[in-house]
Amino acid sequence: MINGKKAILAIESSCDETACAVVLDGREVASNIISTQIEIHKLYGGVVPEIASRHHLQNVNAVVEQAFEEASKNLGREITMDDIDAIGVTYGPGLVGALLIGLATAKAYALATGKPLVGVHHIKGHICANFIEHKELEPPFMALVISGGHTNLVEVTDYNECQVLGGTRDDAAGEAYDKVARVLGLGYPGGPLIDKIAKEGNPEAVEFKRVFLEKGSLDFSFSGIKTGVLNYVNQQKQAGNEINVADVAASFQQAVLDVIVAKTVSAAIEMKKDKIVLAGGVAANSKLREMLKAACEKKGITLYYPSPILCTDNAAMIGCAAYYKYMAGGIDDLTLDAIPNLPLE
Ligand code: KG4
Ligand code: ZN
Repeated sequence: MINGKKAILAIESSCDETACAVVLDGREVASNIISTQIEIHKLYGGVVPEIASRHHLQNVNAVVEQAFEEASKNLGREITMDDIDAIGVTYGPGLVGALLIGLATAKAYALATGKPLVGVHHIKGHICANFIEHKELEPPFMALVISGGHTNLVEVTDYNECQVLGGTRDDAAGEAYDKVARVLGLGYPGGPLIDKIAKEGNPEAVEFKRVFLEKGSLDFSFSGIKTGVLNYVNQQKQAGNEINVADVAASFQQAVLDVIVAKTVSAAIEMKKDKIVLAGGVAANSKLREMLKAACEKKGITLYYPSPILCTDNAAMIGCAAYYKYMAGGIDDLTLDAIPNLPLE
C-alpha cells in the first residue's frame, strides 16, 4: 500500500516498448517509464521480433528500477517492492518472444517476494488508459481499439467484462497506415507521419474505395485500400506523373476514417451506449479524433480518448487493468504463459 492506496507494479513488453509503471488504486500514476526501440526498428521499416526480444532482455531490469526511482521522486519518499500489493504484466496478445521477457521478469519478482501475479490482456490495458485520464469515466461504453496490431469494436459492460462486436478481417488500421507510409516513402512508424502530412493534402484528391463489408457488419477490412494506394502510385509512376504525397496520404486517411467513424457510431447507437472510448496507437490520430468528435456531437454521444503518450504502448495502462482484475480476485499462478493470440473475451 502507498498512502492508503493499492499499489500495482506493472510491466509491458508485448511489442517494441519495454515499459514499467507504479499505479495507485488503478487510476493514479506514480511512475510510467517507457523505453522505446523505434529508432532500432526504423532501420528495417518495421518491428523485427528477434531484435525486439533481445532489447527487452537488455532493458527490462533498468526500466523496473527507473519506475521505482521515478515513483520515489514523485511521492517524496522511497518506494520499494515492499510497498507493492500486486505485480501486473501483459501476457498476450503480442510477439511471443517479447511477451516472454516481461512475463519472466514479473514472475521472478512474484516468486522472490511472494506478491500476487496478475496477467493482463494488452487490449484491456489500452482501453483502461482512459480511466487514468478521465477520472469520471465508468463502464458501460463502446470502445474502439485501434493500433498497429488490432482494430476492434468492443462493448465494455463492466471493469472486467467486455464483448468483441467486430474486428479486422485482414490488416489492423495502424498496419495499413504503416504500409501506406512505406509505399509513399515516408518512413516508420507511418501513422504519425501520415497524420502530419495529410494536414497539407486534399482528402478528395484521389477516390479510394470505402470498404463497409456486408450490411450491418461491424468488421473491418483494410488490405484493399493498401493495395489501392500501391496501384495508384505505380500507375502514376508509369504515366510519368509526379505524385502529390500529401494528397494521397489525405485521401487514404479520409477513406479509412470514413468507415471507422461510421461503424463506431453505429455500434454505439445499436448497443445503446452514450459514451465512446478510443484506445490504441492510432487513437492518437488527430483527424480520427476530429471526425469522431463531430459525429458524436451530432448523436449526443460523449467521446473520450487518452493523451498520445497513453495511446501507444505503456505500462500505466497495464497497471490500471491489473488493479481492476486484482480487486475482483483475479490472481494468476506462476504457470501463466505468454499467449501471442490471446482472445479478448
Ligand atoms: O498501440 P501501439 O503503440 O502498438 C500496438 O499495440 O500495435 O500502436 C502503434 C501503431 C502504429 O501502427 C503507429 O503507426 C500507429 O499506432 N500510430 C498512429 C498515430 N500514432 C501512432 N496512427 C495514426 N496516426 C497517429 N497519430
Ligand atoms: Zn498496443
